[in-house]
Amino acid sequence: MMNEIFAPVRIGRLDLPNRLAMAPMTRSRATADGGLVSELTAEYYAQRATAALIVSEGTQPSVRAQGYIQTPGIHTAAQIDAWRKVTDRVHAADGRIFLQLLHSGRVGHPYLYPDGGLPEAPSALVSGESLFTLDRGMLPHPVPRELTADDIGEIVRDFAAGARNAIEAGFDGVELHGANGYLIHQFLSGNSNHRTDAYGGPVENRVRFAVESVRAVSEAIGADRTALRISPGNEANGVAETDTAELYAALLAALAPYPLAYLHTLEAHPGLRGVTEQVRRGWAGPLMLNSAHHGGGDPVADAAELVAAGTADLVALGARWLANPDLLDRARAGGPYNEADEATYYGGDHRGYTDYPSLTPLAPAPASAAG
Ligand SMILES: Cc1cc2nc3c(=O)[nH]c(=O)nc-3n(C[C@H](O)[C@H](O)[C@H](O)COP(=O)(O)O)c2cc1C
Repeated sequence: MMNEIFAPVRIGRLDLPNRLAMAPMTRSRATADGGLVSELTAEYYAQRATAALIVSEGTQPSVRAQGYIQTPGIHTAAQIDAWRKVTDRVHAADGRIFLQLLHSGRVGHPYLYPDGGLPEAPSALVSGESLFTLDRGMLPHPVPRELTADDIGEIVRDFAAGARNAIEAGFDGVELHGANGYLIHQFLSGNSNHRTDAYGGPVENRVRFAVESVRAVSEAIGADRTALRISPGNEANGVAETDTAELYAALLAALAPYPLAYLHTLEAHPGLRGVTEQVRRGWAGPLMLNSAHHGGGDPVADAAELVAAGTADLVALGARWLANPDLLDRARAGGPYNEADEATYYGGDHRGYTDYPSLTPLAPAPASAAG
């Protein structure tokens, strides 16, 4: 059954050599002032180039889209140049990489924005979470400013511009972050979207922003280089859906005209397997699954089972890739795996970033070698 994860699969324009993708992971090691990734980030991703596909850390397409300190952007020329170092290194190592476009919406804070303005969201409803800062501790998210219809159009255009910039920076495609309680999810979920216009109310309206974003990015770079991440039923950042099945049925129906590179679904807990199966049935294209609970067992073995069972075409793993640059070799060997060090997840230097050891096989000593 393990062999299933070493079988190739095609998504959009790419032939992937295996089924173990690297899930998007924020590492907060970009420059605080310009949102620039570094050579170290290029090294980190290049080390993991044997992944079927790398999905980058969440990256903001505009100043107001940022939700955490030291996350990278994709809206300035300098950011595009900085990312090019990453994509060049990944491609030189025969890898493939999508950029994750993230607008955090209300999961934001004036601390992050040069103009000191409020974060923006579908409705003026607070997340209940806080921003981590290095100099001022935890800062509770404020009540966000409610977006106007014009603002929404501008954000959709920002996503399209961010996608074009990502292609210019050498990425193979773009994954829109529609999961985990960030802006797209804030529109989807009724408890964070109290709008009475065309973007709120019935599920057909709440999916509108997600679909307009997918359409704009698809038109900008091609649907076959566009992906969307969703997390049905995941109560993150204050989002709590009351109509998951109906909501995602409406979303998938509205997305049907877009032959995306893949749809990425996150299964937060085992109770959501039925929802994952609903997504599988409702989506004709390639499906990437991130089972955040790993069936309670070994993540790689769980991934192999999910692919073998046809639950998904690809499985994304986060912490396992973070801690094991040579995860594919280790999976082939049946382990062992390095465990991820949570203390070095966000911020800092090479420690817990580029210094996880590989299982480098010892070069056989030449038979005739003397001394
Ligand atoms: C350090 C860290 C940062 C993360 N940042 C992101 C992110 O930027 N975007 C995103 O969609 N998910 C993010 N996630 C969630 C992961 O993509 C994934 O859903 C989660 O880690 C569960 O999968 P795993 O158990 O295989 O790690 C992050 C997870 C971790 C551990």
